[in-house]
Amino acid sequence: MSFAAARVIERVDWSEGLFSLTLDAEVEPYAPGQFFNLAVAIEGVRVKRAYSVVSTKDRPPEFYIVAIPGGKVSPVLDRLRVGDSLELDPRPHGFFVASEVPEARDLWMVASGTGLGPYIAMLREGSVFLRHEAIVLVHSVRTSAHLGYRRELEDIADARPAFHYLPTLTREHGATHLHGRVDAIVANGELERAAGLPIDAAHSHVMVCGNPAMLDSVKKALEERGLKKHRRRDPGQLSTETYW
Ligand SMILES: Cc1cc2nc3c(=O)[nH]c(=O)nc-3n(C[C@H](O)[C@H](O)[C@H](O)COP(=O)(O)OP(=O)(O)OC[C@H]3O[C@@H](n4cnc5c(N)ncnc54)[C@H](O)[C@@H]3O)c2cc1C
Ligand SMILES: NC(=O)c1ccc[n+]([C@@H]2O[C@H](COP(=O)([O-])OP(=O)(O)OC[C@H]3O[C@@H](n4cnc5c(N)ncnc54)[C@H](OP(=O)(O)O)[C@@H]3O)[C@@H](O)[C@H]2O)c1
Repeated sequence: MSFAAARVIERVDWSEGLFSLTLDAEVEPYAPGQFFNLAVAIEGVRVKRAYSVVSTKDRPPEFYIVAIPGGKVSPVLDRLRVGDSLELDPRPHGFFVASEVPEARDLWMVASGTGLGPYIAMLREGSVFLRHEAIVLVHSVRTSAHLGYRRELEDIADARPAFHYLPTLTREHGATHLHGRVDAIVANGELERAAGLPIDAAHSHVMVCGNPAMLDSVKKALEERGLKKHRRRDPGQLSTETYW
């Protein structure tokens, strides 16, 4: 892996420990949903971690990051300010991209926490709107302070009737229409009622990104509806990206 110098040119703070960094860095062409490795020096040793890119290829690379208390790299990234340096491997990685999604009437994008990132890139790039009649973004976070990119997503929903933005809070009541973990609101039908669409194997493809425990519980809830993992050689309706 070869790393190149990068510099922070913009920082957005969504809430304490939840932020976006835009970098001045040369990167190879990438597809929305892919990730890059960022690296920082810790006690003289380069330590790298993967981060999904939220920008599109015509813009400088942008990343949506949460600082994990006690984590090695993310608290160091949280201390970076505009003008500070880090390193980035310019090669993109990953197959959690819209072009790997088979034909489906409805595309469901399910995220926990910063698992939102790949979908921001896909929605900004826009080709998903040409391939699917409806797109539903379900963002599960603990409290409304953790709803990064909320304004941008609400603006897309206002501009595009095919797009439904459905945040769900798990540790706060009242600030959004939906409440509860994604597996629970799939099981009790709340999610489909809010979207006005069914989730079924005939019409839906579901992408799920973020916390591995969330991936497991959502996968289980959807398998009970007859959806199965998508593979190129054995097509199904579920694509996943696990963050740890
Ligand atoms: C393909 C891929 C893409 C990723 N994209 C992003 C991204 O866009 N934004 C981002 O913030 N992270 C992303 N991650 C996670 C990131 O690579 C690091 O694991 C994370 O920043 C923690 O690193 P650390 O060194 O601070 O923690 P470590 O000391 O390595 O501790 C790791 C622990 O932190 C927790 N954790 C890791 N990532 C997250 C997370 N995103 N949300 C909640 N808890 C977490 C888990 O408990 C994990 O066991 C991605 C991971 C992968 C594999
Ligand atoms: N997000 C922030 O703004 C922020 C800021 C600073 C620090 N942190 C720290 O970052 C770490 C990660 O926090 P996070 O909130 O971003 O990520 P997270 O713990 O992965 O939670 C994100 C969402 O996923 C849900 N979830 C977790 N496990 C699930 C499961 N098994 N099935 C279904 N849904 C599940 C959570 O619901 P539950 O609430 O029910 O678990 C929450 O709605 C924590 O240590 C936190 O203290 C976060």
